[in-house]
Amino acid sequence: MKVLFATPEARPLVKTGGLADVSGALPAALREIGLDCRLLLPGYHPVIAGVVNARERLRLNDLPGYGAVRLLEGQMPDTGVPVYVIDYPWHYQRDGGPYQDASGRDYPDNAWRFALLSRIAALISAPDTPLAWRPDVLHCNDWQTGLAPAYLHFAGGGAPSLMTIHNLAYQGIFPPDLVVPLGLPAASFQVEGVEYYGNFSFLKAGLYYADWISTVSPSYAREIQQSPLGMGMEGLLASRRDRLTGILNGIDMADWNPSSDLHLPCEYSSRALAGKRRCKLALQQDLNLEIQPETPLFGVISRLTYQKGIDWVAAIADRLVAAGAQLVILGKGEAHLEQACHDIAARHPGRVASIIGYDEGLSHRIEAGADVFLMPSRFEPCGLNQMYSQRYGTIPVVFATGGLKDTVEDGVTGFVFTEASPEGLWGAIQRALTVFQDKPAWRRMMLAGMQKDFSWEASANQYAWLYRLLVLTRSGNDIV
Ligand code: ADP
Ligand code: GLC
Repeated sequence: MKVLFATPEARPLVKTGGLADVSGALPAALREIGLDCRLLLPGYHPVIAGVVNARERLRLNDLPGYGAVRLLEGQMPDTGVPVYVIDYPWHYQRDGGPYQDASGRDYPDNAWRFALLSRIAALISAPDTPLAWRPDVLHCNDWQTGLAPAYLHFAGGGAPSLMTIHNLAYQGIFPPDLVVPLGLPAASFQVEGVEYYGNFSFLKAGLYYADWISTVSPSYAREIQQSPLGMGMEGLLASRRDRLTGILNGIDMADWNPSSDLHLPCEYSSRALAGKRRCKLALQQDLNLEIQPETPLFGVISRLTYQKGIDWVAAIADRLVAAGAQLVILGKGEAHLEQACHDIAARHPGRVASIIGYDEGLSHRIEAGADVFLMPSRFEPCGLNQMYSQRYGTIPVVFATGGLKDTVEDGVTGFVFTEASPEGLWGAIQRALTVFQDKPAWRRMMLAGMQKDFSWEASANQYAWLYRLLVLTRSGNDIV
């Protein structure tokens, strides 16, 4: 089974969120179970610099709308997974992130940049692919790859495609007058096509033309068939529900392993927990918090957006401190939420630390050093930190939504609240504070979380099964 995994980001080369973790780990897990999965990535600076053994595989001299485009082939630095890289410096080699410039503004030509990613994915998956390697399945991820199933459809077929939704809040919305310049027929701009409330949506294109749709947890697969979490796509998703599957993300059990984590000042495991206490003291010291081993320490690591319920954390932060707890927030995102986090820390020196920025090492040290992890997301397709937390013996407090609901067991490995408000969050925090006083009960919860298996293997097997189904369905159709 040959699978092309098209994605706009993949760890360790380029990451803005959980999609990068998934793109780094899932293809490797698929290869472990015998599939030939290869990545396709845009050639941003860090990708060109980080891919191992990169060599030119293909040169397209006159791709309509783009001109000369090169395709490189190499391997991912850590896992050795084969990766195709689109070398088109004009679009991809920029200062700033993969989607936005250094000041946080979307690049004005994102439609062209990610239409190119989709275009190359479709080209490689077409019957007349210019590569010797032709995938049996094209696996697309989020709006940046959403046009690929549409291109394949209008090119008359090719490999069947799977469109995975990692977050329906990002829909790749652009003006309708780009439909034709980006290489789609004008007639595709309709409800039964790429049109979305008068605009052109890359994600809608993927959801409409892909052979199958998946998302990253079973609960989110159900939630998005209705308003509000369907975010305007609920009608289409409900109509395709017999081709919509929820497959829970795994986590990279090697990267996130407290007994071998090089970011930590000291290792620990479910059999030898003492190191966790030392991680907590080191974290308090590093962040200028009062050094108090018995104080409950709460952690947050998050993109600072509406989705993540950071405003609820801000609303209860003073109460949390008054109850005797400490709080560490690591995050980056919307300016007003960054300011809110900054203000909480300024009000409570020695009790609250806010680090505005992106820091992978610190994210590991918070997972290890905290007692409780707050993740009150309003919606969460899957979420990874609540799983990292359980593995690190840090009890998650989560809202009952999407993947949070599917991975945290209330009262067993964490605390789950159902009222979508700061009061709901506060109620769960109070329950956590009560159990925290009961050492044996707390320890039981820690161990229950640490012993859970969040490895990719089960999910990789479900994807493999789905790919086979897609290939069989497609060949069945051909016979008919
Ligand atoms: P999302 O993809 O919606 O942001 P996930 O929970 O799936 O949510 O994944 C987020 C990933 O990004 C996790 O690996 C998390 O540790 C990481 N992360 C988020 N914000 C930061 C930050 N400020 N510093 C370091 N890592 C972060
Ligand atoms: C998205 C979602 C998150 C999910 C991640 C990886 O960014 O917000 O819930 O874990 O993608 O699938």
